[in-house]
Amino acid sequence: MRPPRTYAGTRTAVLHRGAVVATVPVALAALLAGAGPAGAATTGTPGVGDPYFPLSGNGGYHVGHYDLNLRYDPTGRRLDGKAVLTVRATQKLTRFNLDLNGLKVTALTVDNVKAGFRRSGQELIVSPPRALNRNQTFKVAVAYTGVPGPVIDPDGSKDGWIPTDDGAFVAGEPQGAMTWFPGNSHPKDKSSYDFTITVPQGRTAVANGVFLGQKTAGGRTTFRWRQTEPMAAYLATATVGKFKVEQYTTPSGIKVYNAVDPREAAASAAVLKKLPSVLEWEAKLFGPYPYRAAGAIVDRAPQVGYALETQTRPVYDRAPALSTLVHESAHQWFGDSVTLTSWKDIWLNEGFATYTEWLYAEQHGGPSAQKTFDERYATAADDALWSFPPADPGSGANIFARPVYDRGAMALHKLRTTTGDRAFFQILRTWAAQHRNGHGTTAQFTALAERVSGKDLDQLFRTWIGTKGKPSAP
Ligand code: TRP
Ligand code: ZN
Repeated sequence: MRPPRTYAGTRTAVLHRGAVVATVPVALAALLAGAGPAGAATTGTPGVGDPYFPLSGNGGYHVGHYDLNLRYDPTGRRLDGKAVLTVRATQKLTRFNLDLNGLKVTALTVDNVKAGFRRSGQELIVSPPRALNRNQTFKVAVAYTGVPGPVIDPDGSKDGWIPTDDGAFVAGEPQGAMTWFPGNSHPKDKSSYDFTITVPQGRTAVANGVFLGQKTAGGRTTFRWRQTEPMAAYLATATVGKFKVEQYTTPSGIKVYNAVDPREAAASAAVLKKLPSVLEWEAKLFGPYPYRAAGAIVDRAPQVGYALETQTRPVYDRAPALSTLVHESAHQWFGDSVTLTSWKDIWLNEGFATYTEWLYAEQHGGPSAQKTFDERYATAADDALWSFPPADPGSGANIFARPVYDRGAMALHKLRTTTGDRAFFQILRTWAAQHRNGHGTTAQFTALAERVSGKDLDQLFRTWIGTKGKPSAP
């Protein structure tokens, strides 16, 4: 772990503003800070208001950057971390929360000054030595240690820090990021990241973005990674294991880093070779690949049971099928670059990634998307496929269920056959371009589809994403 950095510029500004506030009455100070009359809330909320995950994320600030220093010992399963967050207050804050599940906080500073903190479930409640003003930028440094483990999601699956026989499979959708670093753990907030991860020599630690280098000393190797484009916390990874590493740059300049568990190497080689051509094919359909780095982490983690579209570098619990690689790659546009603001909108991720699988099959010698649609439509009316509308799963327990994936894809196919291919792909490309490295909502997508196609699509979207039950006509 590195010693804490000092940020002289920020500190000077803080001390200066603090000095001004201290000389005027409290109510007047609040008015000067733009916080409204005395008594207006100056504590950040413990969540961002997501109905499925009410405590995910926190109110009152935006994290611009995470600098994560981690050390993991796979034998004792101990994680030592130091996280330095560069934060901007969006309101006056006398107190704010971070999300952190388990682990022990050993030190916490705000702008290098010791701050008060307490724990309450997944909330780490921070009381800075003096109030932070709206728009003030500050650094929060948290040192922590412990034996991390996954969280159990409402649907019974695990996510977060999941130990494996040689390291850890690290995947944070929807709420596992808080099991390994403190932060604003909701996709509404996107940030850049630096990772410095130290593991025993012989293990490899793989995170997101560009690989900056590694250094071995005293029986340990430190890996450095940088994710410059904004990333939601759930898409961060720091997967550790014994990996075979492959690095190359594609003709279009994307830096590829693949890490493969040797036990999965033979089974994954042919599919991994297709990664550049899959990304190129998707870029033709959706517009330019959003990132400067790409790759794959192929682990052996049978206890996980899924893959995740970790940004730039999806993590697979086993050698992936080609359709899975196509799916996780599509998420780089839909989910990673264009990110949801509420988990209710999950079909914007999963419906789009699933439909990309159908399109890939159609254009690579497999069944047409129409044929796949027809097969799904033939599903009996009492089947779980029709049990809730894709755009309203109703609870966090349903966000990875078939209506989101398959019926979400069916909705896109209906959109395509209604608008025609030209308009449909124009809609997808415009969606990816207009919301690139940002966020998008279902309402924004349906409005865009109507604008680009020039058609009234109310009925179509109401039937296919807004109403439960099998639609009466395909
Ligand atoms: N979003 C992942 C994908 O589409 C799947 C996923 C993440 C998942 N977490 C999960 C599926 C938990 C089931 C349970 O590839
Ligand atoms: Zn998916």
